[in-house]
Amino acid sequence: MNTFTTVDSVREHRAGLEGQVGCVPTMGALHDGHLALVRRALAENEHVFVTLFVNPKQFNDPADLAAYPRRDVEDIDLLNEAGVTAVFMPSADSIYSPEDTYLVNESLESLDRCGSARPGHFSGVLTVVMKLLNILAPDRAYFGEKDFQQLELIRGMVAAFFMRIDIIGVPTVRLSDGLALSSRNALLGPAERALAPHLFQCLQSNDSDRVVTDKLEQAGFTVDYIQTLKNRRFGAVFLGEGKRQVRLIDNVRLKR
Ligand code: PAJ
Repeated sequence: MNTFTTVDSVREHRAGLEGQVGCVPTMGALHDGHLALVRRALAENEHVFVTLFVNPKQFNDPADLAAYPRRDVEDIDLLNEAGVTAVFMPSADSIYSPEDTYLVNESLESLDRCGSARPGHFSGVLTVVMKLLNILAPDRAYFGEKDFQQLELIRGMVAAFFMRIDIIGVPTVRLSDGLALSSRNALLGPAERALAPHLFQCLQSNDSDRVVTDKLEQAGFTVDYIQTLKNRRFGAVFLGEGKRQVRLIDNVRLKR
C-alpha cells in the first residue's frame, strides 16, 4: 500500500498509472458504507485512490470538527485488507494554503435541507471535492446515496464545470435494524442507539412530512428537517442533549 501525504507525491504516482482510475473521497473512520464504495471502485477500475481527509471547511461548528472520529491506523488496515493500493491523506495546510481565498459555491440547491442548517457546509464540500478531483484526475469518483444532497450537488458541479469525470452513486448501506451506517453512530449512547433506527422507519411511512416530524419529536428526536422532494424523503435529526448532541441524516425513495 502506498500512502501519500503531499499533493506533489500523489500526482507523481498518478502520472505513472495506466488504465482507468477510480477515486473514493472520505473523511475516514471507515465503516462498511465506505467500503461498499471502495469495493465498487475496485471492481470497475484498474487503480483506486481512497482519500482520508477531515475537511475543516465543511464544518460550520468547531465542536463538531473536534469531535469527528479519527482512526487513521485502523482505516489504513481496512483499506489494505480490501485491496486498495493508494491512499491520499493530506494535511489541511497542503490542501488549503494560507493565501487560498477560493471557494466553489452553488446558489440554489446547496441552501436548503443540510445547507440551511449548516451555512457554508456545501461550499466546503464542493471546494474540497473539486480540489481532490483535480489532484487525482480520476476517470470515476464514487459517492454514497446516504448523502444524497451532496451526491446531487457534486454531479451538478461536474456538469457545470465540464469536468471529465463520471460520478457514480452507491446505495446506502444499513444495519439489519435499518440504521444507515455513519461515522457518527459511534457517538450515540445506548438509549440513543436504540432510538436511531426509527428515523429510517418513519421516513419510509406513508405519513406526511408534518406527521413524520411530530412522530419523531414524540419519540425523543429533535428534528432539524423532514422534507420530501422529487419522490424522495430527506431527514435530519438530533439525538442526545447539549454538547453530546449527535446529528443523523438519512433519505429514502418513496414507493408511492
Ligand atoms: P464521509 O462522511 O466520510 O463519507 C464518504 C463517502 O461515503 C460519501 O460519499 C458518503 O455518502 C459515503 N457513505 C457514508 N455512509 C454511507 C453508507 N451508510 N452507505 C453508503 N455510502 C455511505 O461525505 C463525506 O465524507 C465528505 O463530505 C466528502 C465527500 C469526503 C468531502 O469531504
